Amino acid sequence: MRSLIAGNWKMHGLAAQLAEIESVATSVAAVPPKADTLICVPATLISRAVRSASGRLPIGGEDCGAEDVGAFTGDTSAGMLKDAGASAVIVGHSERRRYQHETDAIVAAKARAAWRAGLMAIICIGETDAQRRDGAALSTCGDQIAGSVPETLADPGMLAIAYEPLWAIGSGHMPAADEIVAMHAHIRQCLTTRFGQAAGRAVRILYGGSVKPSNAQEILALPDVCGALVGGASLNAAAFDAVIRAAE
Ligand code: PGA
Repeated sequence: MRSLIAGNWKMHGLAAQLAEIESVATSVAAVPPKADTLICVPATLISRAVRSASGRLPIGGEDCGAEDVGAFTGDTSAGMLKDAGASAVIVGHSERRRYQHETDAIVAAKARAAWRAGLMAIICIGETDAQRRDGAALSTCGDQIAGSVPETLADPGMLAIAYEPLWAIGSGHMPAADEIVAMHAHIRQCLTTRFGQAAGRAVRILYGGSVKPSNAQEILALPDVCGALVGGASLNAAAFDAVIRAAE
């Protein structure tokens, strides 16, 4: 399975930053990477980012509504993201679970909406610092998979799970390699139990949280780490390109 290196710009990015997209797109077109690549940007930038990438680099959204259409002021539907040129969307990022109070059920509904629109869904899960200290990291993430991943999976290629320990996001702190391996093995087991061996093994499991050029190679070499979700380091083309190249 090819790895997926996905950037997550969060609430960063104005027209001036489109030069970073252009730069990454130029690099991956010149020397095709071993990994699939994606940059998820704010909804306002999607159509312009798609133009900057001009077919060389897929662009995604960072969230979508759970409904297809209707009276939901301020929400952006998955169909709208697709219409703007997105091919994927992040759902259930911990910042949305925390600040927008998104539950597992809402995240699952958003993933189903993404699939209805033809978008790949990157579903984020992860434990807090306290949950890890209490020995509840595996059970917390298992519960999040049970609640956030829709019951039926028509195409495993349209799903990626991003394991992002909350305490590792933007902090410079990371789990030990054996903790990442144990978590990814647990997530794999949850997926194969739910969807069967073939489909469960075909879903990519990404690691996210303080991934940067200096640690990407080590993380991406771990068993069952099929890519990365990259926040801060995706804002700079040179740094993101270095993470992409670490997958080789
Ligand atoms: P970070 O963010 O790489 O800046 O830690 C990752 C994420 O939140 O997706």
